[in-house]
Parts: sequence; structure tokens; C-alpha cells
Amino acid sequence: MRMLGCFSLSCVALSAQQSWAQRSTARRSIRQVARAKGRLYGAALAAEYLDQPEYAAIVARDCNIAVAENVFKWGWVESQQGNFNFELSDKVVSFCQQHNIALRGHCLLWHSSIPDWLPRDAFPPLELIEPWMRAIMQRYPNVVAWDVVNEVIDDQDNGKTYNLRLNATPEYLRDIYRLAKRLSNGKSELVYNDYGTEGSSSWNLKRQKYIVDLLKYLVDQDTGISGFGIQSHLRTNISEVDLDSMRLFIRAIRRLGLRVYATELDFLIPFEMVPRDVDRVDRIIADAYQRYLDMLFSEGVDVVLTWGITDKSTWLRSPEYNPYNGHPELFPFIRPLLYDEQYQPKAAYDAVLQSFSETPAAKQLS
Ligand code: XIL
Repeated sequence: MRMLGCFSLSCVALSAQQSWAQRSTARRSIRQVARAKGRLYGAALAAEYLDQPEYAAIVARDCNIAVAENVFKWGWVESQQGNFNFELSDKVVSFCQQHNIALRGHCLLWHSSIPDWLPRDAFPPLELIEPWMRAIMQRYPNVVAWDVVNEVIDDQDNGKTYNLRLNATPEYLRDIYRLAKRLSNGKSELVYNDYGTEGSSSWNLKRQKYIVDLLKYLVDQDTGISGFGIQSHLRTNISEVDLDSMRLFIRAIRRLGLRVYATELDFLIPFEMVPRDVDRVDRIIADAYQRYLDMLFSEGVDVVLTWGITDKSTWLRSPEYNPYNGHPELFPFIRPLLYDEQYQPKAAYDAVLQSFSETPAAKQLS
């Protein structure tokens, strides 16, 4: 295991005496380091937090790319048919413009964000999706990459060639991407985003295969698809074998001529392995970040976003998604991100900074 940046006992003691502002200027920002390496670091933004100065300050300081955690989703924007509410998405967009942060668009089609006015047991026909896609894509032409389709590979193995959710077929997805290509400005990347590919279980390997097959089909069909997002909601017991499996997966996608991104990174310690000690939890998570980022960078992935930036607002602390539900004593150990609840940078921050610092420069950003 490598030493993690400034993470030592003396550093912790010293930093406890300093205010956040003092410490944050003492550390280089991830944004600065990432930029110097031709790479992007960013986070999913909670629109309702942008008015909080401490939150806004860390995002502006560390991110050169961002994504809205929820407020670009179809069910949020068009909760009533034909009535688009862009208030919160506009807020995210203007924050990013103000701070010169590139923006990803997440997501145009996801089984979990089909609006209530549509049946949710099937993906809607193209004619019903088109007005929504047109409205949001044309409102935000500066989005650098759209997650056009999110999580369409089914959790359950239904034995079909492509194993797609609801009534999706490869032809249906081809038409969605062609529509996105037609509606986009030709500059935004068109991405497919999914999860459950990060390990080496047979379930993971099957999902990897389904995804590579689907991506190959979409490339062959001239859809304009340009990348794949590995969501990266990870457990910390990721083994070397898992990382090796990821390497092969990333290479298979890149051989199709597509870019690969990490779009929703966060780490959790598996329930039965959680040490009841915040510092130890933070070290384990920091180490996992560093190994994962080192792997990504060495495989040519140069855009990494975490799903949130502070543990205060992580989705993993919401009752719906808390993986330690039923064990309230474990709640304080849900610490998947780079900053803690008081907006203090954690060991994971230093680990990410170190990975960006040590990686060779990728291409220069324009
Ligand atoms: C999650 C948000 O974080 C939650 O706040 C919301 O309630 C549900 O969606 N994969 C995705 C994201 O692609 O859109 C999900 O975001 C997390 C899993």
C-alpha cells in the first residue's frame, strides 16, 4: 500500500487546529492538478445545496466538470406532460457557467425517471420521447456529454441476447441514439452509462459482455455514440482481479473507438467489514480511491466524476439507498466521498489528488 499524500497522524493533528479556508489554500486543488494533467475531475451536484457558500466553494475549487445529480432527469423536468420546469436545472447550468465548469447531461432515458404520466413498465415510443429530448438538448447546447441511455441492461438474466430492460430492443436504442445525434449540436458526446461491471463475478462478466455487444451494435449502426460511462458505485473490497477484469473491459470498449469515463464514483465498505472507527474507514476508502484511479488513468480514462462531493449529501445516506439500513449505528461510517459533513477534506481527497498528481499528462485540454 502506498502512503497517502499528507495523511499522517501529525498532519491530522495539525489540520484540526486550522480552519477549512486555511487548509484549503494550503492544499493544491484537484481541479488545478487535473487540468495540468489534461484530465477532468468533477462531481454530481445537488441543486438544493448550491446556495450554501461552503458547498459552492468546494465545488468551484475542485471541479472542472460536473453533472446534476437529479434535476436533469425526465421525471423531474417534465412531471406534467408538455410542462417543462427548468428552474433547478438552469440553476446548475448557471453555476457551472459562472465557475467555468464543464457540464455533463444525465440522463435522457432511464427506466427510473420515466415521468408518472407515462406507463412505467415499458419505455415510451420515440414520438413521446422526442419533445422531451428536443426541449432539454436544445436548451443546454453547451453540455459536453449526454448520458443518452442509462442502465438499460437488465439486472436479471432473462436469457435474451442483449438482456435489455422493459421492452427495449437494440433497434429501439439505435433509434434513440440517432435521434440524440440529430438533436445535438454535433459537439456533445453521446454516452451510454451503466453499472454492475466493476467486479469479476459471473454476473459482472455477463453484464460486461452484454454491454460490449450492445456498444458494438450501436457503433456499427452509425448512431453517433461516442462513449461509455462506468458508473463506479463501488465496494472497497475490490480485489486485484476485479481491477484486472476492469482493465480488459475498458480495453474492449476502447477498441470499438469509444471513450470511457468514470461517471458516478463512490466507495462503501461492505457491511460485515466496517471498522467502528472513522479514521480507519477513511483510510480504507482513500486507498480504494487511489487504486481505482491509478487503474483508470493507466487505461486511458481521463474524466472522473464522483457521485456527490461531501458525505453530507451523498445518496447513500438517504433512507431509500442507505445500504446499512436497519443498522443506525453504522450511519456515521457512510463516508463515500472526498469531503466530510463539515466540508473538511478527508484522506480520500488526498488520495485522489495524489493519483492525479502522479499520472502522466494526458492530452492538453483546449
Ligand atoms: C440517484 C440519486 O443520487 C438519488 O438522489 C435519486 O433519488 C435516485 O437517483 N445511478 C444513476 C443515478 O445513474 O442517476 C442515480 O442517482 C444513482 C444510481
